[in-house]
This record gives sequence, structure tokens and C-alpha cells, in this order.
Amino acid sequence: MLTRTDFMRMKKEKEPIVMMTAYDYPSAKLVEKANVDLILVGDSLGMVVLGYDSTIPVTVEDMIHHTKAVKRGAKHTFIVTDMPFMSYHISVEDALKNAGKIMQESGADAVKVEGAGNIINVIRSLTEAGIPVVAHLGLTPQAVGVLGGYKVQGKDSESAKKLVKDAKLVEEAGAIAVVLECVPHQLAKIITESLNIPTIGIGAGNDTDGQVLVFHDVIGYGVERTPKFVKQYANVNVNIGEALKGYVNDVRSRKFPAKEHTFSIKDEVLSSLYG
Ligand code: KIV
Ligand code: NA
Repeated sequence: MLTRTDFMRMKKEKEPIVMMTAYDYPSAKLVEKANVDLILVGDSLGMVVLGYDSTIPVTVEDMIHHTKAVKRGAKHTFIVTDMPFMSYHISVEDALKNAGKIMQESGADAVKVEGAGNIINVIRSLTEAGIPVVAHLGLTPQAVGVLGGYKVQGKDSESAKKLVKDAKLVEEAGAIAVVLECVPHQLAKIITESLNIPTIGIGAGNDTDGQVLVFHDVIGYGVERTPKFVKQYANVNVNIGEALKGYVNDVRSRKFPAKEHTFSIKDEVLSSLYG
């Protein structure tokens, strides 16, 4: 399994870091088999797996439940688990308690938190407690209400400068990496060059140290529309739809089950049943 040391070396040697989300046993198995460098159990699970409109309803228990399944499917891949909405905002103590619970119960190797500001103290305290933390800046979906929608961040000079500063602050607080979401590529490049820790981009251009995408977006599973920054490599919705239709039609036309799917008893046993 790769560790923090490997991710630092990969940044130094300009070897792209590949991260992808997974949420359950089968997706984790597939993602590990595809040889990604690290798995994110994102709170995007609220939307792509649980059908919520945002990540807000996701709980610590949800994250633990899904991370345990991911761990069973990907025993040899570094796993980062999102701390969900309001699980690290009330107090540093509360954040420590929730992060500790996630680490002890789920098999996560690190947690991810969104934002800077008050969260800087949280990053420092978790790190001092021995919990590796991945930061997340730019578009931070748990703050979608405050941001006023899912929009590109850091487009004007003031917010761009703040992002550069926040990135430095999360690094100083001990973050092992930082996710940059929906950030103009020039700004992501400046941040990447100014940090010692790796940047992992999503909608942040091709100059970050790594990339992350959502499993369901990559394979076209369940999702109907994907954001501009997604490249969809398959549309398994079509395959699954055809398979399901085939099953339904075969049952209705009695084509399924066929002989090869069917168990039998010997004739003498059968005749004994008729008396
Ligand atoms: O929850 C998630 O999937 C994420 C990634 C988009 C970075 O946080
Ligand atoms: Na997330």
C-alpha cells in the first residue's frame, strides 16, 4: 500500500497521483484492480449512492458503514474518508471524537475536511492526534448554501489570493494533501507550485499533482448529467438497462429459466411422488 511518503515522492518526481471514489465492496474491488493510488470514500455518496440532493444529510455512521465495505474490497489501497457536514465544526473536541471514531471503526487511513478558517485548528489537532488529514479547498460542497451554488471558485483577484493563502495554511497545519475543486487551472498551478504537499484536482486543470473523479461519473452509472470537468469513460447505464430489460422479457416469455438453470430429480424418485 502506498503511504504519505509515496505521495510526497510522487509530487517531487512529477508522477501523477490517481485518486478515485468508491463507496461499497464491488466499486472498491474494481477501483483497486484498476491500480489507483488512493481511494476516496467521498460524502458524494449522499448524492450518487443514497439519492440525496446534496452532501448535507450524510452522517458519520453513513461514512463508517460505507468505508468498512470499501476496506473489505480494497485491502491494499490507501483510503481517505470524508468527514461529513457538521462533524468537525462544533468544536475541536467534537472533530477529534468523530475523526477518531471513523479511523477506529472503518479502516480509513486518513480523513478529509473541507475549508480553511476555523478548520485550520481542526487540521492541526487531528494531525497532532496522529490522524492524517487531507484538506479540500475551492468549491467545498458542504458549504454550497453559503457559496450560492456549485460554481468555479477563485475567479477574481481577491478570492484567488485567499485560496493561495488558505492552501499554505492547510499545509502549515499538517495536511498531507489538498483537494482543489472547481478552480481555474492557472490558480491551481500556482498553488501546486507553492506547496510541498500534493494537490489533487477535480475541475482544476492538468497542472495539479493528481486528479480525483467520482466513480459513478467515470463509468456513467446512475448519473444522467455530469459536470464539465468530468470525462466519462463508459456508459454502463446502457448495458445495465439492456440486461435488466432482457431478464424482464425472458421471464414474461418463459425463456428464463432454461434447462441449464434448472435442477431435476431422477425419474424413479419422481414416479414415487405420484404413488
Ligand atoms: O465527496 C467527494 O466525492 C469529493 C470529491 C469530489 C473530491 O469530495
Ligand atoms: Na466530499
